[in-house]
Amino acid sequence: MKALKTQAKIFLRKNIPAGWKGYLMKYPYMFTPAQMLTLCDFALRAADKKGAFVEIGCAYGNTTIFLNKLFQDHALNVDYHVIDTFSGFTPEDVDYEIEGRKLKPSVNMQYVFSDNDPTWFKEKMDYNGVDLAIHQSDIVKFDFSKIENIAFCLFDVDLYKPTAAVLPTLYEKLVPGGVLVIDDCDKDDPNWNGAYQAYMEFIKEKGLPENIMNRKLGIIQKAS
Ligand SMILES: C[S@@+](CC[C@H](N)C(=O)[O-])C[C@H]1O[C@@H](n2cnc3c(N)ncnc32)[C@H](O)[C@@H]1O
Repeated sequence: MKALKTQAKIFLRKNIPAGWKGYLMKYPYMFTPAQMLTLCDFALRAADKKGAFVEIGCAYGNTTIFLNKLFQDHALNVDYHVIDTFSGFTPEDVDYEIEGRKLKPSVNMQYVFSDNDPTWFKEKMDYNGVDLAIHQSDIVKFDFSKIENIAFCLFDVDLYKPTAAVLPTLYEKLVPGGVLVIDDCDKDDPNWNGAYQAYMEFIKEKGLPENIMNRKLGIIQKAS
């Protein structure tokens, strides 16, 4: 039986259909190792603050698992929340990129991440021993009374409209010494540069310093 299973595994590895290769063979993170290290560094530094850890835009949960395994390694008990539509970008947000910001994306934004599903996401978390709160919502419509304070937030919804709409609430809920990491703050990215515009507008309005790390991680910290 064991030999048969091994044979089957070898067969599958050698015969992965082309369409599955992206799922089975690709580097699984949307952050480079250097970007992951920056996230880990900020997350660990925020761990002793009295507030939740929030990932807005969690996609397929690979960073979620990575960060939660990091907390487990350090025996940290973290109140981790993920918030996602679990069906990709909203039509209004995509329309704004194209009609409002005159972006000419080389990808069909409406299609990207639209294959996700919260039930499957929960199963993946359980399988990996990750305990967290899963919220399915457009972040613009999310009831933030569910999260009192924020110690660390990875804000990763890419586009201008939701990033600009929610940054003020996140900053208000951020505890002293807490950190917001806004992904996709890369002005040169031809598709995903809306978050950069929202980040720049917000820090300018608040008089906060510009701090973009590892080419695309926009950092906002609240003084202790
Ligand atoms: C780049 S992915 C997130 C990647 C994830 N943080 C990771 O590291 O693997 C962007 C996610 O944002 C979600 N999203 C986009 N617009 C949203 C909105 N208005 N409200 C909630 N989630 C949204 C998408 O469904 C998608 O899962």
